[in-house]
Amino acid sequence: MESFKRRTPFLTFAENLKVDKDWSRYLLHPVFRVVADAAAAAGMPVYVIGGYVRDLLLQRASKDIDFVTVGSGISLAREVATRLPGKPRVHVFKNFGTAMLHWQDLELEFVGARRESYRADSRKPLVEDGSLKDDQDRRDFTINALALSLNPEDFGRLIDPFGGLEDLEARLIRTPLDPDTTFSDDPLRMMRAIRFASQLGFSIAPEAFASLGRNRQRLEIVSMERITEELNKIILSPQPSLGFKILMSTGMLEIFFPEMVALKGAEYKEGRGHKDNFFHTLQVLDNLSEHSDDLWLRWSAILHDIGKPPTKRYEEGTGWTFHGHEVKGMRMVPGIFRRLKLPMNEPMRFVQKMVALHLRPIVLSEEFVTDSAVRRLLFEAGDDIDRLMMLCEADITSKNPDKVRRYLRNFKLVREKLVEIEAKDRVRNWQPPLSGEEIMDTFGIPPSKEVGLIKNSIREAILDGLIANEREAAYALMLETAAALGLKPRSEREGDKAPQEKKP
Ligand code: CTP
Repeated sequence: MESFKRRTPFLTFAENLKVDKDWSRYLLHPVFRVVADAAAAAGMPVYVIGGYVRDLLLQRASKDIDFVTVGSGISLAREVATRLPGKPRVHVFKNFGTAMLHWQDLELEFVGARRESYRADSRKPLVEDGSLKDDQDRRDFTINALALSLNPEDFGRLIDPFGGLEDLEARLIRTPLDPDTTFSDDPLRMMRAIRFASQLGFSIAPEAFASLGRNRQRLEIVSMERITEELNKIILSPQPSLGFKILMSTGMLEIFFPEMVALKGAEYKEGRGHKDNFFHTLQVLDNLSEHSDDLWLRWSAILHDIGKPPTKRYEEGTGWTFHGHEVKGMRMVPGIFRRLKLPMNEPMRFVQKMVALHLRPIVLSEEFVTDSAVRRLLFEAGDDIDRLMMLCEADITSKNPDKVRRYLRNFKLVREKLVEIEAKDRVRNWQPPLSGEEIMDTFGIPPSKEVGLIKNSIREAILDGLIANEREAAYALMLETAAALGLKPRSEREGDKAPQEKKP
């Protein structure tokens, strides 16, 4: 946006663009000429519309281009496909009256201009053919209703009936019609409003903001998958707290994520308080987002303290405690993931692991950092250790600069120790130096409690640094532990037979 201002410094962004009425030089990609020619040959007016135009004005690269025509979007798509090199396949969505094709790295979507009316109980509208203006009326936000003409008489003209350009400059999310109508027509737009605000760093116009609160119950007719798709986009935005604060203050968060709402508030007793865990969580999420755009690590930040409300206690003399909140939180993760229709496999297990381990590096850094504590942490976190350390550093939100400095210094020590111990002991992704099969074979025993006890003693001794992480030392300890359990190696027993033959 800055560069627009720089071009003619005396004009505002919107004025600048109005002066710059001819947008044809922004439509240099050959695809626009092909679409324009195909539409002109068919006598159908055509426009580029929606997100592509918005992103063009914001100078954000976009590969999805929506075209709207006054006529059949499907027949225009077919005409365009025959004119494009390689004649791409047209995918037709008859029910929606749309057609889509891929060309080069672009995704082109064609639709006939529509007028829509909605019923109260469904997101599915009644659709009729309409004009360009009808089509712009039914769109979600003024900044998404901008259209650029591809027609011979005014190629490159911007058609902006609702002041979308001014809203782009004012960084405002506003609906073209009364927001109650726009949101009630399609309640997913309530999530989209917040998503765009968060992604672009825009605010939501006051009337639209008030309408979000009034209409929040309408979210109930939106599928969880769609809500979560928008929620994930909020989470992946540069400063996700923006979106969450709006979700909270409009009451929308309560509808699909009450566990997060429960983090809000600070209670006081006998002059002792605790921090507001909702705002703390948001700060951790923002801190982390400066360093990582990993969706699941960001989810770990959101959920790291989710077990705090149910474990909160007031203890005389001590104050507020949240003992075991990491374990409680880890147990809450599957229920939350299931309800939000998030993946129940690897990503969920990763988030559970992060929630369960999130206190460990902090505890470590508060104490004298022993090799065995570091070895244990490496063993449990495995390849996720780097992401765990990132989460823990983001978790330092103290306002006391001395405390922050001390934590960061200690974390640096923990990180150094992690590297040193891993180089020496290789316990990250640890594999036991002796397998259960070898133990059974040595003593001629079937799978049993004893095998587990021997394996455990080897693992614990390695993690405690009592023996080296290698086969020879493990073998000696196996013999020692087995002897204590009253087991003798087969080789020392007279007339012993193969273990299979000993089985009953
Ligand atoms: N649209 C709408 N209401 C919706 C979804 C979409 O009015 N619930 C309109 C908007 O004009 C939007 C266009 O359809 O710009 C395309 O929608 P979509 O591709 O979902 O979003 P984009 O705006 O392109 O943004 P993004 O690609 O970031 O999702």
